[in-house]
Amino acid sequence: FSRRRFLTSSAALGGAFALGAGVAARAGAAPDPQILAAQFAEARIAADGVTQRVMTYGLGEAAHAGMPPVLRMRKGERYRARLVNRLDEPTTVHWHGLRIDNAMDGVPEMTQPYVYPGDRFDYTFTPPDAGTFWYHPHCNTLTQMGRGLTGVIVVENPDDPAFNAEVVLNLRDWRLGAGGGFIDPFKPRDAARGGTYGTVRTANWQREPAYDVPAGGIVRVRIAATDVTRIYTLGLEGAAAAVIALDGNPVEAPFPLDRLDVGPGQRVDLALRMPESEGACATLGNFRGSAPWTIARFRAVGASLKRDLRDVAPLAANPVAEADLSTATRIAIDLTATAEHRATPSICGSLGYTFWAINKVPWPGDTADPVAPLEELKLGRSYVLDVANRTPHAHPIHLHGLSFRIIASNKRSFLPPPTDTILLLPDEQAQLALVADNPGDWVIHCHIIEHQKTGMTAYLRVA
Ligand code: C2O
Ligand code: CU
Repeated sequence: FSRRRFLTSSAALGGAFALGAGVAARAGAAPDPQILAAQFAEARIAADGVTQRVMTYGLGEAAHAGMPPVLRMRKGERYRARLVNRLDEPTTVHWHGLRIDNAMDGVPEMTQPYVYPGDRFDYTFTPPDAGTFWYHPHCNTLTQMGRGLTGVIVVENPDDPAFNAEVVLNLRDWRLGAGGGFIDPFKPRDAARGGTYGTVRTANWQREPAYDVPAGGIVRVRIAATDVTRIYTLGLEGAAAAVIALDGNPVEAPFPLDRLDVGPGQRVDLALRMPESEGACATLGNFRGSAPWTIARFRAVGASLKRDLRDVAPLAANPVAEADLSTATRIAIDLTATAEHRATPSICGSLGYTFWAINKVPWPGDTADPVAPLEELKLGRSYVLDVANRTPHAHPIHLHGLSFRIIASNKRSFLPPPTDTILLLPDEQAQLALVADNPGDWVIHCHIIEHQKTGMTAYLRVA
């Protein structure tokens, strides 16, 4: 039983294994919440050494050394988790893309108190949407996410079509030096541009992992880009796949995966049709830039199941309200660079610089003071956000608590299903329509965390 074999069998034993684990976790969760402990660990990530002071989440009281677990929830069913902080600094959990109560959103000072070392916080919510989401802290986020605190959430819908297997991929990089130790999480000159890239690229904390899946079968591949900086251009070789959901929401008409840009915070669900012959491989790669590289491989095992991509029934749409464009109020949101100045330190870790602004206000993020909301929205009303990227860089702009639909853009023809994150292209101007149907203060920020933490953050108030 080789190490790789073990990893692939535990991760990819398909729907049956995954579903069983999910059921057990749900049964065990009542009436006490599931313990989700943020903790230090060591992990073998680089080729040349063990990394110390990695941060991860583990379920239960026992210490956990691997990647944060895939959290399985069910659409419309209550979920409870108790964050236990075993780090040596404050933290919180934000449930990226889940449209839940504002009090559960995980933004310190704004929606909840800091969770100090040794302290705990109970999160309770009912996910309204099925799909692929993720979770991460919202405090000292460049360090905490950079050191490992990014995990995938699967919200199951019992009505989803059957797949022959499921593989969940958490894509991210690490800033490691020789020997596997962490190096500076960012460089100021890069933070003022596209962001600082990691030095080691992983999927599920492994370099080029391989997964054994049924030959001729259809595999649901759930991909979450949880890196703090990297924008991927995903592509597949050796097999065909259909894009069935983007950012948790089913696409109206699945389309073949060719090249797909996926920014930090975004997710893609694929229906991957495996080759028929035993041992044949499909390779997921990153085709951005001039030198494509392998993210992960899928190897066909067993006799061909002879499935056809056209057999996959469409996923049911999530209950996202459609904005009424005839009454919608427009809100201008301008993303710009700003005059550089030193930022004041904050408990959730200021990077010490500002480079970016939203509507001219640079806010280092993670805490509510001292800025006012960007705009106050009336509960239940429709809005169109006129977002303009007045910079030569791409920015994955994420809105908490509300889903929006891209209804127009000067840079794209394909308009995706409702989303929580738009990868705004250089000089793009887009119109984002939404219904303000979830009350509270909702952060909107760039998910290139250096940009978020050097000014590209604001919030909308819905009341
Ligand atoms: Cu993925 Cu403000 O969050
Ligand atoms: Cu940005």
